[in-house]
Amino acid sequence: MLNIALFGPPGAGKGTQAKRIVEKYNLVHISTGDMIRKEIADDTELGKIAADIINRGELLSDDFVVRLIENSIATHKEVNGFLFDGFPRTVTQAEILDKMLEKEGTPLKGLLCIDVPFAELKRRMLERAKIEGRADDNEEVIENRFKEYNSKTVHVANYYKKKDLYIDIEGDRTMDEVFDSIVEVLEKIKD
Ligand code: AP5
Ligand code: MG
Repeated sequence: MLNIALFGPPGAGKGTQAKRIVEKYNLVHISTGDMIRKEIADDTELGKIAADIINRGELLSDDFVVRLIENSIATHKEVNGFLFDGFPRTVTQAEILDKMLEKEGTPLKGLLCIDVPFAELKRRMLERAKIEGRADDNEEVIENRFKEYNSKTVHVANYYKKKDLYIDIEGDRTMDEVFDSIVEVLEKIKD
């Protein structure tokens, strides 16, 4: 199984690259952000809890996110692997994910960190706001999302560096160039 996680700050291109990777390697795409937005759109109990938090640009609780993840891993048994996008986002989430995958006998093969300078991230998200109208793509909330990333999420990188699973991807290039680098990495680690 090819289980990998796409990591990086808001706007780095995780979702963009995830679509291409799952198609090429036939993986199940697990984006916690997309899952939460769907709960909100469907106006479920979970969605009602999540809406204010996501719209402020804050992270949801680990318990909340792990519940979402557990469901989707459990419902996909016969697959080539999982591509996690936007998860894990705290060290606690990373520890829980590792335990879940160990239990299935299919550990994570790498955390691919897409690296992009701050100004470019902001430019991309403000541009996306005009097209997609995501509620958290405005100056104030973007600032908060970066704060959350820098205080809670960056530590996940170190956690996987210690396990020798951290892989850096230069993200300030065209989408095709970034994808080519990712494929180069995946070809090396997939077997
Ligand atoms: P989430 O949905 O994961 O958002 P995010 O991490 O802020 O990242 P984005 O989705 O904004 O960016 P991306 O890296 O996917 O980039 P994209 O490909 O879209 O999370 C949202 C919220 O949900 C969180 O704030 C939190 O509240 C909650 N949440 C989610 N997961 C959680 C968790 N695990 N724990 C707790 N809370 C959680 O690209 C961005 C734009 O740039 C696009 O318009 C794209 O077309 C463009 N672009 C992409 N690549 C390039 C390129 N190479 N060149 C030029 N433009 C590009
Ligand atoms: Mg995304």
